[in-house]
Amino acid sequence: MVALLGVFLVVTLFASSFGNADVVSLDDKDCAGGYIFVDKEIVIDGPFDGDCILQFETQEDRILAFTVVDGDMKEALRFFSIHDGLENNSPILLLENQKILELASRKDLPAALYTTQSGAEIKFIKLPTSNFQLKIQKAVICPFNLGVDSQCGRVVDETSCYCATFTNRNQADQTMYCVDNNMKLISFENATEEERVQAAWGTQTPFWTSLTDTRREGTWLWESSMTIPDYTNWYPGRPNSVSSNTDDCMAYGGATFLTFWGDVGCATMAHAVCEAQP
Ligand SMILES: *[C@@H]1O[C@H](CO)[C@@H](O)[C@H](O)[C@H]1NC(C)=O
Repeated sequence: MVALLGVFLVVTLFASSFGNADVVSLDDKDCAGGYIFVDKEIVIDGPFDGDCILQFETQEDRILAFTVVDGDMKEALRFFSIHDGLENNSPILLLENQKILELASRKDLPAALYTTQSGAEIKFIKLPTSNFQLKIQKAVICPFNLGVDSQCGRVVDETSCYCATFTNRNQADQTMYCVDNNMKLISFENATEEERVQAAWGTQTPFWTSLTDTRREGTWLWESSMTIPDYTNWYPGRPNSVSSNTDDCMAYGGATFLTFWGDVGCATMAHAVCEAQP
């Protein structure tokens, strides 16, 4: 009981002293159990005891992703099991059952175990022979697809999810398609995100994004996040600066714009990418 309290206090202390701290490091050498809320991500340091049980929980509509920092998850799983949920008989998560449903996911992401719900329990089976750090992150559920003619995957990192739809719709209908599936029409925060999305689904055909200047001509806004872009990737000479122009929505891809951004009429029919962030 004392140890349990200890773990909980450490988390509270670290989280409050750093405000919105991203990483909380637990350094409880004689771990004997504890409950930890995962706000964003937590890294726990070994060595871990043989009898250790740790419980984790995150936001209700999110799941947990477990990875080993700079190490091999398969190797680490000899020393502990991760259980999907906090019930007594929660099933053990197996590495070979993960990622199978996520066809488009990046192949170079660290091996991760995902829960199907917001809680999980780690049971240490025996004392690890080598030291390792476990990273526990809040993640979004990533479905296999959003119906016919779509594909989803963890194409940027291990906690977010992206889905492409290969049905042509206008920009407003693609916005609502994403919203209907609890996602948002894509906004590119930076070049890395854009490159990884383009690597997953190509640029052969145009894809809608959430960037428009429909609210004020000439002021481009990511509608999904209501932010003015920091990073841009316009095709040379775009966007069209004629004040009366009606090319108010941004699509990338296709024979004209290739990997760049083009301003086109919002009624144009195109594919789209939706995203969900933890
Ligand atoms: C780039 O964008 C992605 C997705 O929004 C984000 O997770 C990542 O931290 C960003 N990278 C940089 C270097 O800002």
